[in-house]
Amino acid sequence: MTIEKMDDFFAKRVDAYESHMLNRVEGCREGYEKIAELVPSDCKNLLDLGCGTGLELKLIFEKFPNLHVVGVDYTQAMLNKLRKNYPQKNIDLICGDYFKVDFGKEKYDCAISFQTMHHFSSESKLALYKKIHESLKPSACYIECDYIAEDLKEEKFLFAEAEKMRKEENISSDMLIHLDTPCCVETQLRLFSAAGFAMQEKLWQSWHTAIFKADVL
Ligand SMILES: C[S@@+](CC[C@H](N)C(=O)[O-])C[C@H]1O[C@@H](n2cnc3c(N)ncnc32)[C@H](O)[C@@H]1O
Repeated sequence: MTIEKMDDFFAKRVDAYESHMLNRVEGCREGYEKIAELVPSDCKNLLDLGCGTGLELKLIFEKFPNLHVVGVDYTQAMLNKLRKNYPQKNIDLICGDYFKVDFGKEKYDCAISFQTMHHFSSESKLALYKKIHESLKPSACYIECDYIAEDLKEEKFLFAEAEKMRKEENISSDMLIHLDTPCCVETQLRLFSAAGFAMQEKLWQSWHTAIFKADVL
């Protein structure tokens, strides 16, 4: 198996990306519908982490035509496509690593992420979820749709395999690579709670794709 850097992986596949997600990735099409339904009705400012080409924004913009979106993504080619997809929309784009980008404090009514968090360790996700929590206004929420592991056993196995591959290929732990290490539902809920969210729940699941909602208060 060839290990690819995160941005190289997506830049190489950008042209076929949307059709792949909509037609080949189980649960995605329905996930986009569900996440749009869950964005709170009074949402004005939305943070979208790993926004890619903005597939999740299509139905969200249908519901909130005047929404202001800040989208963060590591792959410039994906953001270029997003800009072409939504030329008239109020979107600020940041090309960067969401583990490093400053989101600010109490700025957003809602934060979302779609199919982007399943490459990272629980420790790094915990730090990120704390940062997301801080960026949200009181009574706002974070909604995550992601690929999940079947159970803790599978989660541990996938992390151990990834660790082994990094060692074999001499890849440092801070290099962003495209390798699937999904967490199971229990780990996800524990991380949201540890990050300071007042309430967290899994609202939907289709096979290995799940949607979680974590409320600030
Ligand atoms: C599978 S795509 C999902 C894109 C979009 N959310 C969607 O559902 O179509 C994952 C995206 O996450 C981005 N990504 C992965 N790790 C990232 C990181 N650490 N910081 C910012 N973006 C990241 C990738 O560049 C890619 O565009």
